[in-house]
Amino acid sequence: MNMIAGAAIFMSVSGCENSNFSELNQNPNSIIIPQPTSFLSSSEVGISFENGVKITGGDSLFSEINYLQQLLKEEHQISLEISKVSSLITLEVLGNMPQNSHQISCKNQELKIYGGSPEAVFNGIQSFHQLLVLKNKASEISSLSEFELTDTPKFKWRGMLLDVCRHYFPKEIVLKYIDLLAFYKMNVLHWHITEDQAWRIAIDAYPKLTEIGAWREDASAENGALYGGFYSKEDIREIVEYAADRHIQIVPEIEMPGHSSAAVSAYPELGCNGEQISVPNDWGVFKDIYCPTEYTFKFLETVLGEVMELFPSDYVHIGGDEAPKTRWEESVFCQNLMKTEGLNDCEELQSYFINKMAEYLEKNGKTIIGWDEILNDELTETAIIQSWRGMDGGKKAVSEGRNAIMSPTSHCYLDYSLKAIDTEKIYGFDPIPPNCTAEEEARILGAECNMWTEHVPDEKTLDSKVFPRLIAASEAFWGTNTDYNSFLSRLDAHYRYLDKRGVLYGNETVAISIETKTDKNGITVQLTENLRDPETIYSMSSANTIQKENTFTGNLIEIPKNATSQLNISSGEKSAENKEDLLLSFNHHAWLTASTDYSVPYSDYYTAGGEDGLTDGVLGSLDFRDGYWQGFFGDDIDLIIENPNTDKAISSVSMNFYRYINSWIFPPESVVISVSTDGKMFTELDAYSSAEEEMHIRGQDILSPSFSFSPVSANYLKVNIKNIGKVPHWHEASSEPAWVFLDEIIIN
Ligand code: ACM
Repeated sequence: MNMIAGAAIFMSVSGCENSNFSELNQNPNSIIIPQPTSFLSSSEVGISFENGVKITGGDSLFSEINYLQQLLKEEHQISLEISKVSSLITLEVLGNMPQNSHQISCKNQELKIYGGSPEAVFNGIQSFHQLLVLKNKASEISSLSEFELTDTPKFKWRGMLLDVCRHYFPKEIVLKYIDLLAFYKMNVLHWHITEDQAWRIAIDAYPKLTEIGAWREDASAENGALYGGFYSKEDIREIVEYAADRHIQIVPEIEMPGHSSAAVSAYPELGCNGEQISVPNDWGVFKDIYCPTEYTFKFLETVLGEVMELFPSDYVHIGGDEAPKTRWEESVFCQNLMKTEGLNDCEELQSYFINKMAEYLEKNGKTIIGWDEILNDELTETAIIQSWRGMDGGKKAVSEGRNAIMSPTSHCYLDYSLKAIDTEKIYGFDPIPPNCTAEEEARILGAECNMWTEHVPDEKTLDSKVFPRLIAASEAFWGTNTDYNSFLSRLDAHYRYLDKRGVLYGNETVAISIETKTDKNGITVQLTENLRDPETIYSMSSANTIQKENTFTGNLIEIPKNATSQLNISSGEKSAENKEDLLLSFNHHAWLTASTDYSVPYSDYYTAGGEDGLTDGVLGSLDFRDGYWQGFFGDDIDLIIENPNTDKAISSVSMNFYRYINSWIFPPESVVISVSTDGKMFTELDAYSSAEEEMHIRGQDILSPSFSFSPVSANYLKVNIKNIGKVPHWHEASSEPAWVFLDEIIIN
């Protein structure tokens, strides 16, 4: 018999008295996720399924009974017979229970699942489902031990956003995710179905939205092939019904006024200048947003009319984030509208836009949800704020008496790497912002994890990003996330279920931590394995030689002492299919470890490891968040690199700049290099200027200006880097400070 003591409070309701049980004990180690508020169990058999299974339940639970019937048949080959009288399983809604609570008792050959509502009963079914499905051996499935469980979620809104626009995920994958959300008692699928890069929902009144807007030139194909897809109304009805059967509310997000290039490309009249644009096949924020004209409002009302017919949810998400105002500022129409409406600037025009749409939706019985950018004094009182730029938007919303949903980038972004947000970090998330009053706390409806899919081209990547982090989120959103080690011990059983469902989950945390050390003796790399049962393979390539693969056994890795080399690392749980691949590049140049004097500080977020980061021989990769890039925001940069003890002449200098104008990282306007032997008198050696067209190129790449010259004695190298200063007028972030990202200064 289990004899584990716990502190949870057991609440008994009629028909579920624990006095008839053999001895039951608090068992915090139930395998259920999210952890129930109370779980008592013994090792006696509670029910066995050997003699046929009958079920009774009230008429209001018709759909839940059907669901359970199907589940037991499909997953456990148990047939469930519906019976009016005697039965093994009873489902019931009890009027005296809190609406969102459920309770299960399993004893004396009876399993009773009670809830305060059909949704609560459904959650009870999922607890039962988990207990059955997570058993070690198939042979154990014919019975369940005695237990009593009571459970109430802390938050009523437990969701996940799925972006099906940046990449398209067919209906079957959406249905699979609905099942998985239900398994973890999540109850909202926030379906992001319109974006710059795609419009994915069929709209009868505007067929070009999907004829044109659902397709873009495939940036990864060489032959101009189109990438895309969309959901027909029939698909959507099927998905919505499937979700409703699982008590998952689908909240559609129709983005406005920004992130709307796909719609503008289908109907250029929606934009301010009427120009034909193509559906972007690149990531970022785009400036062709809806123009606040009568045409646009009629369009959006018609679209939303069709959306409301498809989605029974009380809520429509209207986006509202990241809307550049360039087109509105250029537009005579917008300037006149602002005058007529007494609006001071384009931000007020955005509020005017959002409020107009909110009014329309409210008239039709819907409540709007918007990203925290929509929060302002004029915003309709009923609007719900989804806080993503930290917790502040949510805190401000609830302090003003509004409701909020929390999705801060710090904890809830599943597209972020494990380096930024690992399973333990999500597990520790508390949706309540600091210093909330009890009243404010009550207005935090719950939280969502956001799965943006710019870099998620397929189901395998999607699974590896979402799992196991979503499982940790489910416990955080349920509010029983008090013990990460207990969570981990329960998680093991869940991997078996994910395997069975074909989910290619990723790692719990970053597989490998890397520490590089550069000194007079060269560069060494120390890897640390972070997983529970890790396996790491690495190999080195240098010049034209590739070392054979090595199994990592804790050894220090020495980087070859010649020009360039690369270290390939692949690490993961021994048993897992998904491995994490890393590539580190090195350049062992002559001025390794030279010190750098900076005219301006580098960003606290992009440090390249600190003051030695530009001469440590470790090169920044194509991921600008890899920790090896130094970022400078808006400033010109003057560096003096000092190598006082060398008597060797130098004859070449090169350096790497990162370019990703989508994220405001621009090439430098110019670079000038000069040398000195005393640090006072400098002689200019060479200069480089970026061509204007270099500033316009989108996508991520590395530019490496290099200078060769006749050998010259030098102990000091001065590098004057001119930042373009402000993001150019043609860019969607026009007039914001521009970044320069710099890494190794390679001197030979
Ligand atoms: C967002 O991540 N732009 C809401």
